[in-house]
Amino acid sequence: MIKRNIIIDCDPGIDDVVALCFMFANEDKFNILGITTVAGNQTIENVTNNALGLMSFLNKDIKIARGAKGPLLREKRPASNVHGANGVGDYQFPQTKELYSDNAVTFLRDTIMSADDKVTLIPVGPLTNIALLIKTFPEVISKIELLSIMGGATIGGNATPTAEFNIWADPEAARIVFDSKIPIVMSGLNVTHSTGLYRNDVDELMKSTGKVTKMCGEIMNFYFKGDHVKKGTFSPIHDACAIMYLIHPELYEFRHMPVKVDCSEELSRGNTVCDVREWFDYDETYPKVLTCVDLEKFRDILLEDLYRLDKMYK
Ligand code: RIB
Ligand code: CA
Repeated sequence: MIKRNIIIDCDPGIDDVVALCFMFANEDKFNILGITTVAGNQTIENVTNNALGLMSFLNKDIKIARGAKGPLLREKRPASNVHGANGVGDYQFPQTKELYSDNAVTFLRDTIMSADDKVTLIPVGPLTNIALLIKTFPEVISKIELLSIMGGATIGGNATPTAEFNIWADPEAARIVFDSKIPIVMSGLNVTHSTGLYRNDVDELMKSTGKVTKMCGEIMNFYFKGDHVKKGTFSPIHDACAIMYLIHPELYEFRHMPVKVDCSEELSRGNTVCDVREWFDYDETYPKVLTCVDLEKFRDILLEDLYRLDKMYK
């Protein structure tokens, strides 16, 4: 099986951490060329420390590059209420790994241009780094296979009633990315609110004797307090959706459609206006927007893979 070249751009973030663990459980399918961080859920310092901390916890030597300190134009607004003061539910990771680069944009450019094949980018935080990359170094566009993005929604929001956090945080960056014509798969809230774990799943993880599953349980337990989806009975792991699609696309239904980002200052700031009108048949040059997911299979696969990590990382 040909391994897919990937770089994940993230803002860990509780669901980012679980998504990264899920990625490592499937390392046999990927060439993980690096991890870049972007301010979002927490400050760039905290999210970068959390990425380095997870690599220390797993003792993984993956190149980590620190990215944007904040959005292109908008004010930062960390989601401390959801992810905690340190970004991972106050979980204390060890810190034994060193930062590879303090410039995610040049790291992305260098890594993509030197890769032996095209590279899939998996942005699961605000799109600031990705926008800066394609505007500063447009030569990378021809070497990007796909952007598997966690962000946006065909309807509704979480940061506001009309906008999903990653897009709301940096709408100008999101507009640059969605207007770039680079192939996109969008995992929006309309599917990611169903891609996660139930309360009893997390209770079982917390009781686990396995190193990785226990950690995931403990940080997910914090997530239940802040993420009010389904009143604490279910917690979405939004970011894992962008990785699951690459491994199990059969779990999803999708449609190609234009996605336009509202960059106003008003109520609809950060809204991803998806043209879902049934009578339009958009071709594959438009973003592939995931519209439905087999949530039980998603949950089964995610749990199985997290427990498998316990055997890989003792
Ligand atoms: O809206 C969910 C997204 O915002 C996820 O990526 C989560 O980590 C936060 O960044
Ligand atoms: Ca995230």
